[in-house]
Amino acid sequence: MPILGLNAYHGDASAALFDGTGLACALEEERFTRLKHQAGFPVEAARHSLSFANLSGGDLRHIAISRDPSAHIHRKLMFALSQAPSLSAIRDRLWNVSRLRDVKPTLAEALGVDEQAIGAQVHRVEHHHAHMASSFFVSPFDRAALLSIDGFGDFVSTMWGTGCGNKIEIDGWVEFPHSMGLLYTAITQFLGFPKYGDEFKVMGLAPYGEPEFLDALRPLVHRTPRNGFELDLSYFVHHTDGVNMTWDSGAPTIGDVFSPKLEARLGPRRRPDEPLDRRHMNLAASLQALLEEVVLDLLRALAAKTRSKNLCLAGGVALNCTMNGKIIGETPFEHVYIQPAAYDGGTALGAALYVRHQILGAPRDFVMDHVYWGLEYSREACRAALEAQKLAYCELEDEVLAERAAALVAEGRILGWFQGRFEWGPRALGNRSIVCDPRQAAMKDHLNSRIKHRESFRPFAPSVLEERAADWFEQGGPSPFMLMTCQVRADKQALVPAITHVDGTARQQTVSRRTNPKYWALIHAFERLTGVPVVLNTSFNENEPVVNTPEEAVACFLRNDMDVLALGRFLVVKR
Ligand SMILES: [Fe+2]
Repeated sequence: MPILGLNAYHGDASAALFDGTGLACALEEERFTRLKHQAGFPVEAARHSLSFANLSGGDLRHIAISRDPSAHIHRKLMFALSQAPSLSAIRDRLWNVSRLRDVKPTLAEALGVDEQAIGAQVHRVEHHHAHMASSFFVSPFDRAALLSIDGFGDFVSTMWGTGCGNKIEIDGWVEFPHSMGLLYTAITQFLGFPKYGDEFKVMGLAPYGEPEFLDALRPLVHRTPRNGFELDLSYFVHHTDGVNMTWDSGAPTIGDVFSPKLEARLGPRRRPDEPLDRRHMNLAASLQALLEEVVLDLLRALAAKTRSKNLCLAGGVALNCTMNGKIIGETPFEHVYIQPAAYDGGTALGAALYVRHQILGAPRDFVMDHVYWGLEYSREACRAALEAQKLAYCELEDEVLAERAAALVAEGRILGWFQGRFEWGPRALGNRSIVCDPRQAAMKDHLNSRIKHRESFRPFAPSVLEERAADWFEQGGPSPFMLMTCQVRADKQALVPAITHVDGTARQQTVSRRTNPKYWALIHAFERLTGVPVVLNTSFNENEPVVNTPEEAVACFLRNDMDVLALGRFLVVKR
């Protein structure tokens, strides 16, 4: 029974398709439009999903969209009335509701078919139900506690419950305007990072500082009975000025959500062009500490209530790797699963899974243990992309390619590594990656100045052979999605300075031979040459979404100061 899941009009628009046998593909719109966090309707992702599975719009039986305008409607109305909304606000709201009700015409237009041809039943799945489903139904657990935590979706910022078999049960939630995701966004903006998704930068900045402002930040949020929390709204304006979480197209934007009172409490905000100083680093460290304090406390209460040792996390806040890395040590949970697209992009998958299991009652049949659910390109397509640029190349067997590429990396060259299907979720995990030598401390600055052009304080992450992870990292278990930070073992830190952050941590990806044999072979070859089973892995891009096609990979390779490109089995050496 083909089911198409859609995340539409939120950030990170996406589509995920179950084709009747299982998950066929899961794609984010930004990979096609080349605009980071592309919002609006996932036109290209939906179109490519169906063509990948050889299906037409008429073959779909169910369409699942990860929003439900009728969810929490009474609370929404009461809140709206209390704010005396303007006519334009009411008009916008009605427009939002109507297009979510009429998803078929938009999908039909995207697919270039008549609306009547799409006979599928449309399901509107509440945002956080989709988040929770996206994690639990593809987790390895038969039973687990569930927590979804983000900015907002369908008037809710946090929801918890339990999962058992093919069903999810909701136990409680925190409604607008209270949100830990929004609090993190507010301080991120305060620190001079205004773009959607910049929270990641503040997480990277935090280890440089001390939590000097933790006491000053604590009054911004307090825990409430029944496992909730509330913000002190006098420090925020989103509840009075409105906060946009719906976008027709383009990149999502959010205006300032903090009030002048925050500057009175913390001192002047930083403007984006001002230098970062110790105070900013301390603020970032304090914010990170506050997030961990609140969320780990929520999790301890959830563990006590559910008596479960298994946890599934979802929502944008679940991309906070530093926080995630502390869950096992600081809560009773012993096993944690986070679906790789934990943010809103993942709700396309979650909505489809919710319909598949919760509504249709299908048994669960797979664990998502890799991210390679994107499109792939043929040998001919790769060769054509190289020939179009008149590049000299050689074609090699997989094993030889891995050895040659690894030898070049060990010599200090920067390698663009393009193989197979592109990744689902925000991280490049070995199919659209830039790879280099973690042993050279200078590699971080090289990458930043020559290719990535990003803030110098942001760390680069390692990929490690799964079977060697425990020798190099303190959290030695599988971490295939780069979603948990842990300490690099003290005796290894000096050996891999380019991937060891200022506080001795790393956001490691463990690489399994079973799920990515080519990438595993590359790292294994590097280990044979150097004794180090670790490479530095960063996404194959330059201030743009991760590359999708061979043409984009070749263009990025030529535009930047990369030295080597492995495009499928073709190897190109620039110098
Ligand atoms: Fe969300």
